Amino acid sequence: MKILILGTSGQVGTELMRAAWPPGTELVGLARPEVDMARPETVAAAVAEHAPALVVNATAYTAVDKAEGDREAAFAVNRDGPARLAAACAARGAALIHISTDYVFDGTKPAPYTEDDPVAPLGAYGASKEAGEAAVRAALPRHVILRTSWVYAAHGANFVKTMLRFGREREEMRVVADQHGAPTAASDIAAAIVTIAGRISAGNDVPWGTYHFTGTGETTWHGFAERVFQRLEAATGRRPRLLAIATADYPTPARRPANSRLDCTRIRTAFGIAAPLWEDSLERVLDELLSSPAS
Ligand SMILES: NC(=O)c1ccc[n+]([C@@H]2O[C@H](COP(=O)([O-])OP(=O)(O)OC[C@H]3O[C@@H](n4cnc5c(N)ncnc54)[C@H](OP(=O)(O)O)[C@@H]3O)[C@@H](O)[C@H]2O)c1
Repeated sequence: MKILILGTSGQVGTELMRAAWPPGTELVGLARPEVDMARPETVAAAVAEHAPALVVNATAYTAVDKAEGDREAAFAVNRDGPARLAAACAARGAALIHISTDYVFDGTKPAPYTEDDPVAPLGAYGASKEAGEAAVRAALPRHVILRTSWVYAAHGANFVKTMLRFGREREEMRVVADQHGAPTAASDIAAAIVTIAGRISAGNDVPWGTYHFTGTGETTWHGFAERVFQRLEAATGRRPRLLAIATADYPTPARRPANSRLDCTRIRTAFGIAAPLWEDSLERVLDELLSSPAS
């Protein structure tokens, strides 16, 4: 099967390019110079040129706070790009796996969100991603939308790398302890996508639709940082004091959901996919990060 991956410079895109695809998979990876999601003509041209059976969209405008003052750009990349991509896929008979986010929810539900819960994004980023989901659903029945949360990898900009850097430089860290969710390794998302692609390739009875996929278990940003600092201390003997603060003590331009927990039952039932415990995936990524002198 020929698969077109968009967004190969990002966390998930990078892991998709190095994932364990089955023999016979023809992978074409494109980054922004070739396909700019804010320039829809480049999107349609790439699908026409490569004629893939499946496209995986790992691009997004992911700067959550910046999006508040840059709404148009966020919507161009997160809504208009995917809309054009889904239309191009429909025209060419390709399927689409599109990645979305926990930020489509407002976080007021006192339990993990299921795929059927109503969306109510709190900020411009969440709203633009929600609009992208809707555009994909409207244009292309053969889609899988994967909503995930708190993504990190050994490369790219993410919470784990920020904590490691600050942990080495600072005596004290204040981290929010009242937002609940599940960290998700980009490599686990890539592995889930390989499984879904295998099902699409087999061709029969693909359960198209929207799915939640995150690391198994749950924590807070504070609990996530605690785990990173435990490993930092074991590796370097250094560890900052970690203080738990409330979201209200750390104002940001964009509001974030207090509850980002996503119920991942549906993807397990439909595709047999379950992520590792978030702590186990974090260990693996920290092994990679702490063994590299550059990190
Ligand atoms: N990061 C998270 O915590 C998180 C949480 C929930 C869901 N998600 C979702 O997961 C998916 C992957 O996120 P990620 O963490 O891998 O993001 P990332 O590391 O920020 O990568 C984003 C990718 O999108 C590309 N991109 C941005 N604007 C573009 C444009 N106009 N045209 C083409 N490419 C463009 C970037 O290319 P450049 O390198 O050229 O900028 C980069 O390759 C996204 O759908 C995101 O919304 C992420």
